[in-house]
Amino acid sequence: MTDAATIAKELRRLLANAHAPYSGVHVAAAVESPDGTVHYGVNVENAAYPQGVCAEASAISAAVTNGQREIVRVYVASSLPELIWPCGGCRQKIFEFSTPGCEVVSLAPDDQVGRQTIEQLLPLGFRLNTTQVHPE
Ligand code: THU
Repeated sequence: MTDAATIAKELRRLLANAHAPYSGVHVAAAVESPDGTVHYGVNVENAAYPQGVCAEASAISAAVTNGQREIVRVYVASSLPELIWPCGGCRQKIFEFSTPGCEVVSLAPDDQVGRQTIEQLLPLGFRLNTTQVHPE
């Protein structure tokens, strides 16, 4: 279990590790699992631009790597002065792993905090029932 202030501080620290030589925008994200574990990621850009990975996607990969496939909360911080919100692709990625009402918390450098549920950010999101797709 990690409290929100500790996560916010860790995200600020991790911004330095973002690899963003093309956009110059450093982003760090954390995803919290139902068991309270928190998994972190940063954006990793690539010279072949579309190959770049957003911080949220990195954090989801870290969670899955650690055996966690459910997300109850997402935190995102960036080097920009304003609140930022996940891109459309990351909204879908979060939605697929989210529990209902999963909160996305945006943290601005001036300590401003924004909160939206994933359902607010991605109304009517697409979800496959994998037991129907791959009946076993
Ligand atoms: N980016 C993220 O990592 N997360 C967001 O929520 C928005 C954008 C990254 C993608 C790219 O590396 C840089 O920020 C500028 O778009």
